Amino acid sequence: MNDLQTEMKLAVAEAAVAQIQDGMVLGLGSGSTAALMIKSLGAKLEEGSLKDIVGVTTSFQGEVLANQLGIPLKAFSAVSRIDLAIDGADEVDSAFQLIKGGGACHVQEKLVASIADRFLVVVDSTKIVEKLNVVFKLPVEVIPTAWQLVKTKLKDLGGASELRMAKQKAGPIVTDQGNLVLDVIFENGIDDPANIERQINNIPGVLENGLFINLADEVLVGEIENGETKVNQLKRI
Ligand code: 5RP
Repeated sequence: MNDLQTEMKLAVAEAAVAQIQDGMVLGLGSGSTAALMIKSLGAKLEEGSLKDIVGVTTSFQGEVLANQLGIPLKAFSAVSRIDLAIDGADEVDSAFQLIKGGGACHVQEKLVASIADRFLVVVDSTKIVEKLNVVFKLPVEVIPTAWQLVKTKLKDLGGASELRMAKQKAGPIVTDQGNLVLDVIFENGIDDPANIERQINNIPGVLENGLFINLADEVLVGEIENGETKVNQLKRI
């Protein structure tokens, strides 16, 4: 990640925190942009400019960070709704459909987004695409015994997939739920994301895929214009 990308991520993280109000139950996303948002939230709680916040994390990463910062947390199972969920994304198209799961956290991220009154997505401008899955592979979480079967079924749907391998550990990455991830690419990208989301989740052994359909309400896009960082606020029409 270069410095400009970090600047854009920081700008959207801070713009998202500016939307938080006292007393909110917040969904706390995962990944580098969400981590910047969680740090900014922690600083606001520490200085007292925000209060009575409860966070619901979407990953081990978020839980550890929020605990370090003293952000009060509740388990997902202890809440029935969330006021505002804030999370990053790997790709965003013009209809606000997303690919998420670059950090393999999309199962809990989708759960949290699904019960949020508002789902705010924070990205830098490199994440905006015309069509999903032309570049970024779609993450699919699978139970370990089923990964080869799921790989074959994904091929039947037209997708070439590979098991995501770990760095600094022999073998595949293991998700927070103890599963594996297949990253799949369709030859010309995904034409009908809602249909592909359903078809993939219908394969036995698949827990969840990273297509987020009709969940995002607002997208904050970090941009660099004439050397200045700015935040473009896109709302779903
Ligand atoms: C994790 C995610 C992240 O939100 C996504 O990968 C974007 O990450 P980053 O903000 O680091 O670019 O979906 O599962």
